[in-house]
Amino acid sequence: MSNAAMMTAEQVVTGDLEYMAGCLRDEFRQMAGKRILLTGGAGFLGHYFVQSILHWNKAAGSHADPIRLAVFDNFSRGMPAWLTRLTGNPALTLVRHDIRNPLPADMGHFDYIIHAASIASPTYYRRDPIATMDANVNGLRVLLEYAKQEQEAGRPISGFLFFSSSEIYGDPSPENIPTPETYRGLVSCTGPRACYDEAKRYGETLCVNFAQQYKLPIKSARPFNNYGPGLKITDRRVIPDFAKDILAGRDIVMLSDGTPKRTFCYAADAVSGYYKVLVKGHPGEAYNIGVETPEVQMAELAERLVGFARDIVGYRGKVVRKTSQDGDYLIDNPNRRCPIILKAREHLGYNPTVTLDEGLRRSMIWYSGNREAEDS
Ligand SMILES: NC(=O)c1ccc[n+]([C@@H]2O[C@H](COP(=O)([O-])OP(=O)(O)OC[C@H]3O[C@@H](n4cnc5c(N)ncnc54)[C@H](O)[C@@H]3O)[C@@H](O)[C@H]2O)c1
Repeated sequence: MSNAAMMTAEQVVTGDLEYMAGCLRDEFRQMAGKRILLTGGAGFLGHYFVQSILHWNKAAGSHADPIRLAVFDNFSRGMPAWLTRLTGNPALTLVRHDIRNPLPADMGHFDYIIHAASIASPTYYRRDPIATMDANVNGLRVLLEYAKQEQEAGRPISGFLFFSSSEIYGDPSPENIPTPETYRGLVSCTGPRACYDEAKRYGETLCVNFAQQYKLPIKSARPFNNYGPGLKITDRRVIPDFAKDILAGRDIVMLSDGTPKRTFCYAADAVSGYYKVLVKGHPGEAYNIGVETPEVQMAELAERLVGFARDIVGYRGKVVRKTSQDGDYLIDNPNRRCPIILKAREHLGYNPTVTLDEGLRRSMIWYSGNREAEDS
């Protein structure tokens, strides 16, 4: 990717889509002419899941059958502008559907299924823990039953991807950081994050057993802190929160003591990884998708963003610390989160290359062109 300093938000997105088309040459070719069902496709990860397919269709022109994509989403907080702009594309179907309900009887056959529908941001999932569990357990179950029925009817699916989370590891003990897929986790089943963590864990258990018992090509991805274009400024995850303060011209408010550490994986690399899990992942397996380095403290992350914001929007603020009004904000919040991604590298050829600095600069440009968003 080229230096992003002088780019517009649109150029950032176009550059990312080109980059993904290069990373996913084999996978997109394999999906040509096929139908994909993407639940939760109006969300952050949907932003690049959807646009990368449409971009590939356009670039392939008449040389390949288009990949057709149906997004099922409850649009609980409206339809984002980027998705509204895509309505009318013949390869894209948008369906208002809550995945906690039975699937539409007339939905037809899908070759690939991606289950990404869930409330994903801690601030929001704690407000509706039952809906969070239902989307990840009951919603998943409905989709798994569909895959099984399609197989029984002689129309086997080609791939199924469940969105699990790095949160299934809970707060790993120090000797298990960086964390391999074999680590079993250190997780509360009743704490404020349990509705999410435990639903993802049980979701994975469902996937493994459907894969094994019914011989279905079902895989799980465990994302490690993705960020970048498409992650709404109102989402209440750390990078959009900092960007919101920057673009409002006020000091960045940090709600922890700044010491928790994370690795951050840029959206274009992450979504490339998820498509690879979908197409090439081994049935019944789960894959860490993220980056191994650098592991940065929240205080350092804020300082790096401030540096880019100075160049991009002339920001003059600084970082200040406050305690969250939400007393549960930091309970069970892992101190460190850092993956081992060897399995994805070896099985899938996953190879994230966008550096943290480049990703933060591209994100800051994107936020400067996308300052408003519906509530997350
Ligand atoms: N982004 C990350 O870093 C990350 C990390 C770990 C796991 N994940 C998982 O990846 C998936 C996608 O995450 P995201 O960051 O795009 O989240 P997001 O909140 O931006 O998008 C989720 C989408 O799902 C939809 N949705 C929620 N409940 C639904 C329901 N019951 N029926 C239909 N639609 C529903 C929402 O309307 C939204 O469009 C989620 O399963 C999330 O748990 C993401």
